[in-house]
Amino acid sequence: MRLPLIAGNRKMNTTVREAVALVSEMRLELDAIANVDKVICPPFISLAAVGELIKGSSIKLGAQNLYFAEKGAYTGEISPLMLADLCQFVIIGHSERRQYFNETGEIINKKAQAALRVGLKPILCIGESLKENEAGKTAEVVTEQMRSSLARVNELDGLVIAYEPVWAIGTGRAATGQQANETIGLIRHNITKLYDKEIAQDLRILYGGSVTAANATEFISQPEIDGALVGGASLKAEEFLSIVKQTSAIRTHLSEES
Ligand code: PGA
Repeated sequence: MRLPLIAGNRKMNTTVREAVALVSEMRLELDAIANVDKVICPPFISLAAVGELIKGSSIKLGAQNLYFAEKGAYTGEISPLMLADLCQFVIIGHSERRQYFNETGEIINKKAQAALRVGLKPILCIGESLKENEAGKTAEVVTEQMRSSLARVNELDGLVIAYEPVWAIGTGRAATGQQANETIGLIRHNITKLYDKEIAQDLRILYGGSVTAANATEFISQPEIDGALVGGASLKAEEFLSIVKQTSAIRTHLSEES
């Protein structure tokens, strides 16, 4: 059975002080939940402080982006080597980066390779726009995004995929559990074709887009969905904790059944 993963993508929110306060509020309870991977992705400048706070706990840390070069004259950028010291995960290819920072499949591919090279686990985001969805192009779009971002990536090494339909991000209009499950099933099928069946069975694929404490169970209880990438709701300790607790309860129930 794949270990579920709940990641909180805080985006460009919280000062260092606020980021630390938010984690402090839920640290003990999160740490005690053993059957879910819990990943917090604060802004770059809070990584060190949050990392210090969760040291020795079961909570993991992720960055929201990285640059693909190891070091050098790239003013303002953060390298994979710098992050490898601080965290275990890194979000790559988020639709906001594709949309506002012109990240292409080729750039995302370089970032994925760079992250894996230093032992960071990419959380690779893919998903279709509203227009593409309405035109019935979801399968085509996610398949192409996978092909371009995973080019020359021979070993997935803990990589996670997050299916995030762009129309569901930050809109309060989540996909249905069934819709998400179907597309995630297709993503897993693509992995079988690109790699093999065993790799596809081991790969964790998350749903993201307006996940809240109120709808989390609908997604997590789907057989293909291994967790969630949570944006807005990760900024409230209560909400985030509730999503992790619901995931843990579903996982416990499934383990008892099998
Ligand atoms: P949201 O964001 O939960 O606020 O919709 C999800 C994401 O962008 O990862």
